[in-house]
Amino acid sequence: MKRTKIADILKSGTIDTTVNVKGWVRTKRGSKGIAFVQLNDGSTIHDIQIVVNLESLGEETLKNTHTGACLSVIGTLISSQGAGQSIEIQASSVTVLGESLPSDIAPEGKGYPMQPKAHSMEFLRENAHFRPRTKTFSTVLRLRHGLAFAIHKFFHEKGFYYLHSPIITASDAEGAGEMFRVTTLDAINPPLNEHKEVDFTQDFFGQQANLTVSGQLEGEIAAMAMGEIYTFGPTFRAENSNTARHLAEFWMIEPEMAFYELEDNMELAQEFIQYVIKFAMDNYADDLKFLDERQTKEDSQKKAEERNEFALLEKLKFVVENDFKRISYTEAIDILLQSNHHKKGKFQYNEIKWGMDLQSEHERYLVEKHFKQPVILYNYPKNIKSFYMKQNENEEVGKETVRAMDVLFPGIGEMIGGSQREESYEKLLKVVTDKKMPLESLWWYLDLRKFGTAPHAGFGLGFERLLMFVAGMANIRDVIPFPRYPKSAKF
Ligand code: 4AD
Ligand code: MG
Repeated sequence: MKRTKIADILKSGTIDTTVNVKGWVRTKRGSKGIAFVQLNDGSTIHDIQIVVNLESLGEETLKNTHTGACLSVIGTLISSQGAGQSIEIQASSVTVLGESLPSDIAPEGKGYPMQPKAHSMEFLRENAHFRPRTKTFSTVLRLRHGLAFAIHKFFHEKGFYYLHSPIITASDAEGAGEMFRVTTLDAINPPLNEHKEVDFTQDFFGQQANLTVSGQLEGEIAAMAMGEIYTFGPTFRAENSNTARHLAEFWMIEPEMAFYELEDNMELAQEFIQYVIKFAMDNYADDLKFLDERQTKEDSQKKAEERNEFALLEKLKFVVENDFKRISYTEAIDILLQSNHHKKGKFQYNEIKWGMDLQSEHERYLVEKHFKQPVILYNYPKNIKSFYMKQNENEEVGKETVRAMDVLFPGIGEMIGGSQREESYEKLLKVVTDKKMPLESLWWYLDLRKFGTAPHAGFGLGFERLLMFVAGMANIRDVIPFPRYPKSAKF
């Protein structure tokens, strides 16, 4: 018999028909010769209840069936007396595809690690091989899929092309040098050149190569021919940031558009985020409702000042319906300088002055305390931003700015970083030379400014940061199936 997904049964199953469901046991309980099994197959947050008459099917039927076991059940759809469900399945046959024993009866006490109760997020990370079987994590995985789909849909509908930028690269797009090297050289005895340095000409690619920190520079190549493109791929950063907002391997979406200026870039960023969040609200309502209730429950156990200001769904609705606030870096510095927080010395880094790189506590003050909404900060000091950003003209010496923009979100901080790009060959060459960047790996990037240059702009959105916001998860390690961070690459 052909298997039917639980989502389809709950949506359009017909009473009195026979169905075959396959899935994993969340809980089993019994009374007087009858067992009730909550079965889930990942197609929906909801379980379906299986009623097993042990007198007719045999006492042995569910002997080694406990939380985590995998069953194939054939039975009749009947309307349910139980609270919280309208239909259930009266089993006529049960096949145990994979048994699962809890520690109290498993050999040597080595039972299934997941109990039918709430586990800490840390415990679940340690058991990432069973993590998708939990309600919270399966919800996150469904949302992850839904948002990825919405991202492709958004750009496709706007006529953007999906560009596959390389994962192995010889250039350091962000110029920050936080890269993982890709090499086949012998780590213990690498070949040396006459200066006793590692001789990368003998390496696989004939030069130093790394995992990409951004697909932007290659994205610009495509934008200067195809008009509007986006990349969506894994990105690697070897920064030693052991925080709840950083991963060593994360996914980034980077649109790059010819003929866009900074204002167009800001508009696209807002439209993009609002579109994908709305898509999630329209298509993953059950999952978001579960996460909304989860957050409310967690908040009720926290101290008043640690609670979320808004319920999850209320927060998402607000973001979808309201324009993001736009302010310049210079205005942001003024707000910080005039804040009581600063005057009372409450910032850990309290020496606020024009030209400084904003710390996340400053960004969070602006979005969470001052504006209480997403904020786009633009026109940052030239000295603290990347080499490729377009320079503003006619500025006071020492106060030069670039056409950068960061989109800051409550609870997250930086969700997007982007800019208009410097399209002048002379200006870009000067920055690259001043910063002593390697011309031999950037010649093609400069060539784009020599032949058919055009105003263009783009940005990068951290996919996991978006998911943290939409799912209301506090740690970025809980929105990616297999998180990579310092000292951890398990699974
Ligand atoms: O601000 P970033 O470094 O910008 C770029 O890489 C540009 N090349 C983007 C562009 O203009 N095309 O990174 C962009 C975004 C950040 O705003 C953040 O959301 C995310 O990527 N991000 C990280 N997410 C998780 N872990 C990390 N270590 C991250 N570093 C950046
Ligand atoms: Mg950034």
